[in-house]
Formats: sequence, C-alpha cells, structure tokens
Amino acid sequence: MQPLSIALGERSYPIYVGRGLLSRGDLLQAHLPRGAVCVVTNVTVAPLYLPVLRQALGGRRLVECVLPDGEQHKSLATLGTVFDALVAGQVHRDGAILALGGGVVGDMAGFAAACYQRGIACAQLPTTLLSQVDSSVGGKTAVNHPGGKNLIGAFHQPCAVYADTDTLATLPDRELRAGLAEVIKYGLLEDAAFFAWLETYAADLTGREPAALEHAIRRSCEIKAAVVAEDERETSGRRALLNLGHTFGHAIETAVHYRGWLHGEAVAVGLLLAADLSARLGMVDADVCERVRALLSRVGLPVAPPAVPPAELWRLMQMDKKVADGRVTLVLLDRLGRAVLRTDVPEAAVMATLGAAGP
Ligand SMILES: NC(=O)c1ccc[n+]([C@@H]2O[C@H](COP(=O)([O-])OP(=O)(O)OC[C@H]3O[C@@H](n4cnc5c(N)ncnc54)[C@H](O)[C@@H]3O)[C@@H](O)[C@H]2O)c1
Repeated sequence: MQPLSIALGERSYPIYVGRGLLSRGDLLQAHLPRGAVCVVTNVTVAPLYLPVLRQALGGRRLVECVLPDGEQHKSLATLGTVFDALVAGQVHRDGAILALGGGVVGDMAGFAAACYQRGIACAQLPTTLLSQVDSSVGGKTAVNHPGGKNLIGAFHQPCAVYADTDTLATLPDRELRAGLAEVIKYGLLEDAAFFAWLETYAADLTGREPAALEHAIRRSCEIKAAVVAEDERETSGRRALLNLGHTFGHAIETAVHYRGWLHGEAVAVGLLLAADLSARLGMVDADVCERVRALLSRVGLPVAPPAVPPAELWRLMQMDKKVADGRVTLVLLDRLGRAVLRTDVPEAAVMATLGAAGP
C-alpha cells in the first residue's frame, strides 16, 4: 500500500489511508521503535477496535490505557492517568504511544508522547472522519484548560498515521457529517476540482461508500500535509489558511457554550459565512456562496448560526486567538479553491454577513 508522505525533513512520516489497516501488523510494526507500546484509547472505541489491534501487535509488550469518552475529559487530570499508565507499564524512551480514537484521544495521546521522558514516538490511528482528515496529521497536540480550548499543548509530529476507513462504519451519522465539513473546507481553500468532485459524490459520502470516503480522506490529507510541510509551526501564515470557517465557528461554539453543536457543524456555518463575507467584499461571485450552501445542505450540515445576536458573535470573534494588534485576521476566499488572510475587513461588512445569516 502506497502511503502519502508529509515532507518535514527528519520529522517526515507516512500517512496510510485504506481499509483493514488496524489488522496490518506488518505496517504498524514497520514504523514503531523497538520498545513497549502503550495504546491510548477510550471506553467507546476500545470494545470496537482494541481486540483487532491487540492481535495485530501480538509479540509486542502492550500497555493499555482506556480513557473516559468526551471533550470534557481532554484535561490535565486525564493526561495524568496516561502518564500513570506509562510509568506503571514501564514504557521507556524506546517505547511508543498508539493513539486509537478520534481527535480527543489523538490530541491527548500526542501531547502525552510529546512530554513523556521529554518525547517518545507516537503513531496516530484515527477512527473518526474528522481525525482522519484533520487532527491526526500535522503534529498539533493539546489538552484544554478551564480558561480555554487547547491552551496547553505542543507540536509533536507522529511517527506514522494509519487512517483505517473501515472504522468509519461504526461512527454515528452526525459525527460523519461533522467530519465532512472539514473535507469541504479543503476543497474550498485549495482545490476547486476537489470541491466539484464533492458536489458530484455527496450522496456516496453520506452513504459511506468506501471508495468515495477513501478518496475524500486521501485528498484532504494531501492538502493538509502540503500546507503543514510549508509552515509547520504556523509562522508564515500559510497554515493559518486551514482555519477557513473557524473564526466564525469558534464564536458559535463559544456562544452556545460547546453544547448542542459539534465542532464540524459550527465550522460548516463558518464556511458559509466566510463565503458570504468574501462575496460582500467583491472577492468572489455570489454563486460561490450558493454552491457552498447547497453542498453543506446536501450532506446534512447546518447553514444558519444559532439564535445569537450578531453583535455577540462579532464580540466573540474578536476574542479568538487569531487576533493580532487588535485586528481580527479572517480567512476569506478570493476564488473557489483559494483562501487568503485578511486583516482589513470593515466591521460593517462582518455585521452585514452575520445579520443576513439569521438563525
Ligand atoms: N490537533 C489538531 O490539529 C486538531 C484539529 C481539529 C480538531 N482537533 C481536536 O479534535 C477533537 C474532536 O475530534 P473528533 O471530532 O474526532 O471527536 P471525538 O474524539 O470526541 O470523537 C467523537 C465521538 O466518536 C466516538 N468514536 C470515535 N471513533 C469512533 C468509531 N470509529 N465508531 C464509533 N464511535 C467512535 C468517540 O468516542 C466520541 O464519542 C477536539 O478536541 C478538537 O480540538 C484537533
């Protein structure tokens, strides 16, 4: 199986996308150091996929760390239990962590690997669509603090990523759709032909047709890998383009106190608002907005924000961490398939977009 590769010099690693990867002991072993392996997973994913992984890694000394499920457990307290398992299991510097689960498990396991004994290897085995197309690739790891999401973290690239598309069979519909928001984001920000492909194959994706899902994941990972390779630590602004839809999305998530809306659902509305604002500023034609709205609707994602006053959403957008020198940096479109950073967007234009969106 031919993996994608992310070009980061000595930190380069393969990204495998395909069916049955969790049972491919040969592929898994090929990229792991010699020592003990600690599988970090959660109570939902463990009964589904830990047995097959155990079998694939037969012969290795395995330590298992099964965490509670949920974003509320992406905390320093839970991270402490991962370190406890690593110490109790006598995992040394030649050992590795395997992150088996969605983005919550992946972010926490990755951060544990970044810190434990000043850094050990970590392989990502993402099992949600969102984690397969986004969080498992790129090396951002973190836990939340009561003061904010992902406030405590590190850059720590994995040694390999294995996106086993068979695991998506058990993913709830709503989680699948939330992942599709990030897939649509890649088309919008980088590849108009991929966006058009998504328009054609939307029903195959929501119907979980394996070849369609595999293509969507592979193309998304290719785009993310290329962007990260150019700007690993988000210093040049290139990586910030991956935040298309996220400044609006984060404001929505904060306004509803992270309840009732999944991250991908908030990003979906954010994508449409970014397209609408781009059109208001004369950067793209209005038909781009209509295509975004139509595609989001077809895959069952929301296209209107919750009932929050526009002024409140704008206030929250100004608190987002992408604010420099008092100016909000927005990711907008200057055509379908090309995103740009703008720091000069008039407040009136943002308010017009938020006012027109309505709940
Ligand atoms: N590091 C990054 O670059 C990055 C990027 C985007 C998001 N994130 C983070 O990712 C997290 C969100 O990730 P997520 O959307 O994967 O959520 P998640 O990890 O909470 O998973 C969603 C739900 O699906 C369950 N699940 C996972 N795999 C399953 C499967 N195959 N079958 C059935 N159920 C399954 C999980 O147990 C959970 O209940 C957030 O914490 C976010 O901050 C990180």
